[in-house]
Amino acid sequence: MHIVEQKKIAGEKAAEYIRDGMTVGLGTGSTAFYMINKVGEMVRGGLKIKAVATSKETERLARSLHIPVVDIDTVDTIDLVIDGVDKIDRCFNAIKGGGGALFREKIVASMAKEIIWIMDKSKTVDDIGRFDIPVEVLPFGYTHVMRQLAQNGFVAQLRLKDGARYMTDNINYVVDVWTDGAGNILDIKARLDGIVGVLETGLFLNMCARIIVGTDSGAVIYENERKEIGL
Ligand code: 5RP
Repeated sequence: MHIVEQKKIAGEKAAEYIRDGMTVGLGTGSTAFYMINKVGEMVRGGLKIKAVATSKETERLARSLHIPVVDIDTVDTIDLVIDGVDKIDRCFNAIKGGGGALFREKIVASMAKEIIWIMDKSKTVDDIGRFDIPVEVLPFGYTHVMRQLAQNGFVAQLRLKDGARYMTDNINYVVDVWTDGAGNILDIKARLDGIVGVLETGLFLNMCARIIVGTDSGAVIYENERKEIGL
C-alpha cells in the first residue's frame, strides 16, 4: 500500500474520536491534511466543534472547509489534539517539526487534555535520537545559537527553503540538530532547552494518549499506558 493511503487511514480514523462540543487542536502536515478533510466532512454533516490551528496553512485549510477556527487566546484548554509526527519510539517519544510548525504545535499540545499522534508506518522507529531534531530559533543572535549547539556536541544545520533561510509562521528560523543518538533523549532535550535563543524543540516526549498508525491492514491503535508498546 502506498504511504499516502496509510496517512489517510490514520488521519480519518483519528477524526472518529472527535465529539460534539469539543475544542479540537488541528495538526499540520500531510497526515493531518486527511484528518482535517474528514473533520470538514463531519462539520458539513452537523458536527459542532471549535478548532484551534497549529499553523497558518492548517488554518487556511480548515477555514476553506468551513470548520469554525477560533483564536488560541480565546480558549483555556483544548479537549483533543490530533497531529502528525516525524518519528516516534516505543515509549511514545516523538520528534515533530519536519513541516516547521513545532512551536505552535507544542503550545497547542501543552493545552490539550488528550493528544492523538497520527502517522504512516515509516514513522515508528527504535531510537528517535538517531534522527534530526528541529528546533525553532530566534533570528537575533542565531549564529551564537549555532556555536553553542556545536559546543554541546550537536551538528546543527540552518534550515533552508528555495535557497533562502526557512521562516516559521512566527518569523523565526529552524535549525535541524543531529545528535548521533549519543545520550539519553531527556538529557538531549534539557541541553537544547538550556541554550539561550532556542525557543522550542521538536521533542514531544510521552505526551500522547494514543497513536494511530496507518498500515496495509488498516488503522492500528496503540494506547499509551506508560509502558513499552509493540510497534
Ligand atoms: C509539522 C509536523 C508534522 O506533523 C510532521 O512533520 C509530520 O508531517 P507529515 O504528516 O506530513 O509526515 O510536525 O511541523
